[in-house]
Amino acid sequence: MSHRVAVVAGDGVGPEVVAEAVKAVDALGVGVEWTELPWGSAWYHEHGRMMPEDWEEELRGFQAVLLGAIGDPSVPDHVSLWGSILELRQRLDLWANLRPCRLLPGIPCPLAGRGPEDIDILFVRENTEGEYAGVGGRSHRGLPGEVGIEVSVFTRAGCERVLRLAFECAAQRRGILTSATKSNASRFGYVLWDEVAAELATEFPSVRYERVLVDALAARMVRSPDSLDVVVASNLFADILTDLGAAIQGGMGMAASANIAPGTSEIGIFEPVHGSAPDIAGQGIANPAGAIWSAVLMLEHLGEPEAAARLLDALEAVCSEGPRTRDVGGTATAREVGDAVVASLRA
Ligand code: IPM
Ligand code: MN
Repeated sequence: MSHRVAVVAGDGVGPEVVAEAVKAVDALGVGVEWTELPWGSAWYHEHGRMMPEDWEEELRGFQAVLLGAIGDPSVPDHVSLWGSILELRQRLDLWANLRPCRLLPGIPCPLAGRGPEDIDILFVRENTEGEYAGVGGRSHRGLPGEVGIEVSVFTRAGCERVLRLAFECAAQRRGILTSATKSNASRFGYVLWDEVAAELATEFPSVRYERVLVDALAARMVRSPDSLDVVVASNLFADILTDLGAAIQGGMGMAASANIAPGTSEIGIFEPVHGSAPDIAGQGIANPAGAIWSAVLMLEHLGEPEAAARLLDALEAVCSEGPRTRDVGGTATAREVGDAVVASLRA
């Protein structure tokens, strides 16, 4: 049976890295049927929107979206992103964003004296509410007293589902769950989050649950990343922490993500954590590892765990032996890395 996957390559380096991920998946022979959807900033200039109005209809029938990157200097970021990925995450209720942060052998680490055995963290990011709820407004525009209000929204149900998932992930891994909040300065949303986490902790006696202030956690990721197993955090906090995470796993080009609604049959969206990188777009030098790793997460979602494991093995072999792109110490192009992954799969 073949899997139906939509490809939204998007802007900047998106098409370059997604092409390598598609090539690698094809080499696995698992029967993925790809459909390219030309959404993104170019589409915006033609149609005045980032995606067609009936995007939900168009996505029906697909099991997954493989996404490259969205964002172009010619469109304000809040317009392009609220018209695409943020809209998709919220409207499809893809409430969990899983971001494995693991330093692969062969990839240089910016932390002195640290190696692959020290960096293996799974970030579980709340993906639909918090600081990304989209609630707020502007008034008194242009006047000296102009106001901009951005409201963070935390619901018990929203906290509970993502925290429960994080506990479950920790129970399957090394049994440590670190929840990052800021309940010393914030008095409402994060306090609710902490309360729900403490309640759930009693259901998972095998997991060591710890509550950490997000600022302290940022320092700890640098000082002792080996003390972390699963980290769960709000939408914004996990957004920031996973860029730091990407840096310690070798750079933005390495990091992968899965936008999913566990326990449902909802479509999943798989995308590298990096952006469209307009500064290097078109040169063929972007690192496709994050996109290929995102395809690994996609294969897991599609119920192809063996193919997923084979692809991750191949990616690891290429990271370890080369070729590597320049952001991770090599000189290769994206295509050379993708070709090497395919060669490793065939070996
Ligand atoms: C990410 C990105 C997005 C986010 C942007 C592009 C809106 O930074 O996926 O981490 O903040 O969620
Ligand atoms: Mn981000």
